[in-house]
Amino acid sequence: MRPKITVIGAGHVGETTAHLLALKNLGDIVITDIIEDMPKGKALDMLEAGPVSGYDSFIQGTNTYEDIKGSHIVILTAGVPRKPGMSRDDLLNVNLAIVKDVAINLKKYAPDAMLIVITNPLDAMTYAAWKLTGLPKNKVFGMAGVLDVARYRAFISMELKVSIENTSAIILGGHGDDMVPLARYTTVAGIPVTEFISQERLNQIIDRTRKGGGEIVSLLKTGSAYYAPSASVVDMVDAILKDKKKIVPCCALLEGEYGVNGLYLGVPAVLGSSGVEKVIELKLTEDEQKMFDKSIASVKTLVDIMKL
Ligand code: APR
Repeated sequence: MRPKITVIGAGHVGETTAHLLALKNLGDIVITDIIEDMPKGKALDMLEAGPVSGYDSFIQGTNTYEDIKGSHIVILTAGVPRKPGMSRDDLLNVNLAIVKDVAINLKKYAPDAMLIVITNPLDAMTYAAWKLTGLPKNKVFGMAGVLDVARYRAFISMELKVSIENTSAIILGGHGDDMVPLARYTTVAGIPVTEFISQERLNQIIDRTRKGGGEIVSLLKTGSAYYAPSASVVDMVDAILKDKKKIVPCCALLEGEYGVNGLYLGVPAVLGSSGVEKVIELKLTEDEQKMFDKSIASVKTLVDIMKL
């Protein structure tokens, strides 16, 4: 049986994700939105591209939650994106209301699905989705780390003028300006990046990475990034459906790992057919721990405000 993948929210992130899923022939796709008919139009347009692009995914657009029945994976992109000058945290209340609505429908129509959250503020929304759906923690997680690492790797590749394929890195913490890129695990063809550039220059690149989402928002002016976020979630779906046991940074529930209890945060995790199969715990230096603590505090503040 072909996997059924539902994308909730047919805006920029949702439609790009659906299209990439189809291009990779990962399964049949359902796109839902609250705007009448719009997801139907986008789905039909995408389906009609299939004969030319060489995919045979069945793509259905809908305004009815009933159509998500039987989904293996649900990707949550519904929500309001940032405008210039806004932080991801400014989206908390409006997007929480959307997550509440989605959780009710997920429980009703696709209680066995795995849920990947993209809606911001990511760590808080993933926590809310887990609480409100009551799904096990391995089946609810968020996409942020793959994106943050992708941005970081792209910047390093631009700086060093080497292939993006040669770059490798890991980022911890919440999906916000206090995320924690781990400089000592940043390598180029396996060689520590500090062999190529000074720590000072690396710090500038890390700073740009932290603000990478905001940089796109200020250029777009009417919304936030979607190509890199969509590519990142599709990479996660690919790892799950192919049971790759791939280690990627995920927004996962911590229950004691890294000394954190009951919060969702970005950590390296093994992704396979059961979702987040294992959280990988790294020993942090004092400085890294300090940065991580700051990130934990930011996420906790938002989670406390939600009172779930
Ligand atoms: N159910 C389904 N769809 C919804 C709901 C809902 N309750 N509420 C809003 N939507 C839809 C909107 O109608 C819109 O089509 O979500 C879509 C969001 O699309 P965009 O405005 O284009 O936003 P996008 O750029 O896709 O970002 C979505 O992802 O990266 C995050 O911060 C970003 O939280 C934002 C989310």
